[in-house]
Order: sequence, then C-alpha cells, then structure tokens
Amino acid sequence: MARLFLLINISFISIVSCRPPKTMEESLITAADPHSFSIPSQAVVKHLDWNATVDFDSKTISAVAAWQIEANPDAEIIWFDIKGLDVSKVTLDNDQPTGHKIARRDPILGEGLAVTISPNTKTVNIYYETDPAAEALQWLAPSQTAGKKYPFLFTQSQAILARSWVPCQDSPGVHFTYEAHVKVPKELIALMSASNPVGKNESGEYHFTMNQPISSYLLALSVGDLAYKEISKRSAVYAEPGIVEAAAWEFADLEKMIAGAEELYGPYQWERYDVLVLPPSFPFGGMENPRLTFATPTILAGDRSLTSLIAHELAHSWSGNLVTNATWNDFWLNEGFTVYFETRIMEKLYGKDYAEMLASLNLQDLHDEIRSLNEAGNSADTKLRLQLEGRNPDDGVTDIAYNKGYFFLRSIEEKYGRNEFDQFLKDYFSDNAFKSMDTEGFIRYIRSYYQEKYNKAIPEETFQKWIYTEGLPEDCPSPYSERFKKVDEVIAAWSAEKPLDKKTSDGWSTHEWLHFLKNLPPTLSSAQMNAIDNFGNFTQSGNSEIISAWGVIAVRNNYERMYPKIETFLINTGRRKFLSPLYNELAKTPEGKARAKKIYEKARPNYHFVATNTFDKLLK
Ligand code: BES
Ligand code: ZN
Repeated sequence: MARLFLLINISFISIVSCRPPKTMEESLITAADPHSFSIPSQAVVKHLDWNATVDFDSKTISAVAAWQIEANPDAEIIWFDIKGLDVSKVTLDNDQPTGHKIARRDPILGEGLAVTISPNTKTVNIYYETDPAAEALQWLAPSQTAGKKYPFLFTQSQAILARSWVPCQDSPGVHFTYEAHVKVPKELIALMSASNPVGKNESGEYHFTMNQPISSYLLALSVGDLAYKEISKRSAVYAEPGIVEAAAWEFADLEKMIAGAEELYGPYQWERYDVLVLPPSFPFGGMENPRLTFATPTILAGDRSLTSLIAHELAHSWSGNLVTNATWNDFWLNEGFTVYFETRIMEKLYGKDYAEMLASLNLQDLHDEIRSLNEAGNSADTKLRLQLEGRNPDDGVTDIAYNKGYFFLRSIEEKYGRNEFDQFLKDYFSDNAFKSMDTEGFIRYIRSYYQEKYNKAIPEETFQKWIYTEGLPEDCPSPYSERFKKVDEVIAAWSAEKPLDKKTSDGWSTHEWLHFLKNLPPTLSSAQMNAIDNFGNFTQSGNSEIISAWGVIAVRNNYERMYPKIETFLINTGRRKFLSPLYNELAKTPEGKARAKKIYEKARPNYHFVATNTFDKLLK
C-alpha cells in the first residue's frame, strides 16, 4: 500500500499542478478529458464483464465490474471514475488482492479510484454497491408508471453519470465492449444498450452482450414491466403493456428511417435498432443508447408529428455512437452532426417542405439561445468548441451544439455542394468508426478531404468564425418554408386587426402551430389570449410541445385558464426541455416564482437528478 500512496502523490502533482508539462507523456495527460480522472494513455479499459443484482427495496445495485485492461509496461496504477459508489474490494485477474484508494475528489467529477496493477495484469475486478441517490439512476414507485403496478428503474449516463452506477473510465475518448449478467425481480424484465431479451423469463436473470466498442456514457439499463412489439425484422418497440400499441403505431416508419439513413451515410453498424418508451419522468426527449434508444412518452402525440426525435436518436448511431466526441468540449461534433443527419432523414422521408419547417424552428431557437446566453453573461458558450473545464458538462447542453452545429454543416453543404458533402460524411463515418474525434481532428480531416478529393481549399477563416467565434456568422444559411410563410400571413392579418379564422389553419401540423405560437407578439391582452386560444385550442392540447410553448405565453400574459394545466404538466412530466421554459418564465416575477416553488415542491419527487440539478439552482 505504501508504494501505492507514493505513486498516487507523484501522479497527483503532475496532473493537477498548473506548470506546463515537461515530457511528452505529461503533455498527453494535460490534453486529456477534463471530466475524467482516468489516464487512458497509461492504462485503459478494453472490455467490461458486469455482474449485477438490482434491488428495488434498498434502491441499490450490487455488482462486480471486471475490466479487461491494457497498460503501458511501466504503468503502476489504473485510474477509474466513480461517484458515490461503495467499493468494498478490488482484486486483479483471478481474485488476487491489490491496493486501491480514492485518491481524488471533486464535487462535479466525483472520485478518482486508483488501483495498483502489475506489468502483466489483465483484469481488474471491482466489487461495489451503488448509492440509493446515485445520480444516473431513477427508481420509480409503481404510482409513477403508466401501469401503476410495478416499480421501474432506468439509467441516464450522459454526460458523466455512468460513474455513479459503474466504476469506469468515464470519458467519451475511451471505447470498450461489454457483457452483462443482471438479476432483477422475477416479475420484471431488464434491458440494456446491448443485445436484448424479447420477453420475461422465469429466473429474472438476463444476459447481455455489446460486441461493438462503445463509450461509457452509452451504458444503459432499464428494469420494469415492459412489453415488446415488433416493427420490422430489425426493429421493435418496448414499452409498458398499456402503451406499447400506441408506441408501435407512432413509430410505424421506423424501418423506412433506418433504410433511409443507411442510404445516406452507410450501413447501420449495430445490428438491431429498438426503442424503449420510458415513464414520463425521463429527463430527455431521447437518449441514443446503442441498439436501444430511450425515449420520452411525450413523443406519443397520437399523430406521428414528433417522430423527428426518433430520426435524431437513430442518426446518433453514426454521429456519436460510431464517431464519438473526444471530450464534452467537442459536444457539437455529436449533436450538430446529428441534427444535420436527422434533418436529412426527415427530408428524405417527408420532403423538403417538412424538413425546412424543422430547420426554421431550429434557427429561431438558436437566435433565442444566443440572446439568453449573452444576457446571462455566458457568451463564451456560444462558440461551438466549448471550454467546460472545471464546470459541469451539462452547461454545454444548449442549442449552440445542436443548431449552430447544424447550420455550420449546412453552410458547408450549400457552399461546396450536397453530393460532395454526402460523400464526405459517408467517408468520415467509415474512416473514423468506433473512434473518438475532437474539433481539431475534424478540421484537419475535412480540410484535407476537400483538398485531396475535390481540390477545394476550405479557408481557415471558415472554421475560425463558426467554431472559435461567439454568436452566429452573418452568412448563416436561412431556411425557407412556404408552409411557415402562410402562418406568418395569418399572424400579419391578425396584427392588422382582422379576426382569426379557424379555416386559415386547416391542415396545420404541430410545427405550424409551434411557429405560430413562437411568433406572436410578447404581450397580449386577455381578449387577445382568449381569441388565440379559441383559434388553436391550445389549453386543451395533449401535445407536450404545444403545452410547453403555450404555457410560457400563458404565464407571461397572466392567462389563468391555463394555470391548472401548467401545474399538472409540471408535476407529471420530467422532460427538462419542456420544464425549463415554464419554470424560467414563472421565475421572472416574485408571484410567479412563489407559484413555481410551490409546484416544484410537489413535482420534485417525480424528477430525475438531471432535472432537479437544474431546477434546484433556479428555485431554491
Ligand atoms: N444525447 C442527447 C441527450 C443528452 C445530451 C443527454 C447531453 C445528456 C447530455 C440526445 O440525443 C438528444 O439530443 N435529445 C434531444 C432530442 C432532440 C434534439 C430531438 C432531447 O432530449 O430533447
Ligand atoms: Zn442528440
């Protein structure tokens, strides 16, 4: 043990101190992921064998994580990330004892676990139990599910929460394969981001394999009363039995989406693509867990109007899961590419008209996001390449990565040609498959690709202004939507005092309605609010996108008819993207803030950590 402490102190000094690195090895260290304690250049994980038991009574998972590793001959330590894990024992290979120590601590990053290894160590076995408050995990009571009969568990690992349920090298720059044996209560089924069962079994024991290398943020587990319904040979939906039919109906075009995506950017590499519809507390719209996208039930609008979300998560099977952002500072490489790809899938399936509505909504959201980041004094976060050292990577989850990223790629497509860009993307995904990419690596790759293949020099300045400069370049592409133009005309006529006429909105989709709501004047009289509500029936809407957008307008204009609905929505939905605008709008006035706090008190027990972590700051 003494040797271990000495070594930890030495490496501690060289990693943490601010002096410039002296050796090549040190410079590799400082260039590493600022959100992980691991030092993959010294010792890195290659494969995980996870043996776990899920216990709903104690809200814990007890497990052994057996990691196959590769280390430099002179490496004496391997570092893992953990957060709140109770590590009882660490052994090497066939259970030989070894030293381990929690050698680093940070409120955001959690703990750095250092394990002593020898030059021929092949496997590190970590015995541990999760904390009942583990940040990735949400343990739901039966009352928080659709069926109300069985408890439910799901994980959300992105960005750096995997370490709260599996000790790992929690960096998107590290890729590994995995296998798992998971024991759950007999009446429930377990699913992972891996090969999955199609039904429950008697023993409550499930076996999983993930043969393609993935990053830790893509580790995922869900346990509950779930049914399975096939959509095509290689895709299906899992959901609670009461909603599985509705889910299958909503995702009827799934196979077309997969085939369309493959036509665009090359073969789907993960064998199956299934979607799991979670209970409403799921904090995101979707999460691209490999082979099994996790999705919010708010996507089940009953009219297939919100399925671009599935196209988005599917697109991550290339942008993100295949070519992974090297660190969270490069997050736009995951999300910007994915929004671009998503939009292309939607265009392929439903036409340019449809895709341009999505792009227009994205542009408006982007302008709003830039304004609000600037107002909050965070204008540095409007650059594509982020600097999140010392901060929570969650701070980087803004429309910049998504939509500025999208418009940047679209600008290259428009300037140098669509066929050229499509060929580029295809090759980018296949040349870099199962590897990580950082922003600088992307710039090098695209510049030399365009130079060599098309004899076109993309100027340095293009990257400078889009990636390393705040705000939006003047030559940002502008989407054009004929369908939105009609909506604009309706708003213009109404602003010129003509009454709203229901006939003018015949055939409007959710997207037209959203465009309508987002382009109303900011302040409205109560007579105007009534007229608008009468026109669109917004207060009665069952569509979460509409409820959230209309709710904000209702709060801003004291439209009391909508208040009960806002409260129910905030209590019963956990999707942060919908909650944030509502809580933020409420928090703008003292009375609103008091109301928000009261609602939040009731709603908080229903939320995942990702959401409470955001709203505790706003409302406490
Ligand atoms: N990977 C993200 C969700 C995410 C990002 C989780 C960062 C944690 C940290 C996912 O692909 C996503 O972007 N979801 C969006 C969907 C939308 C853009 C269609 C969401 O949840 O709103
Ligand atoms: Zn995404």
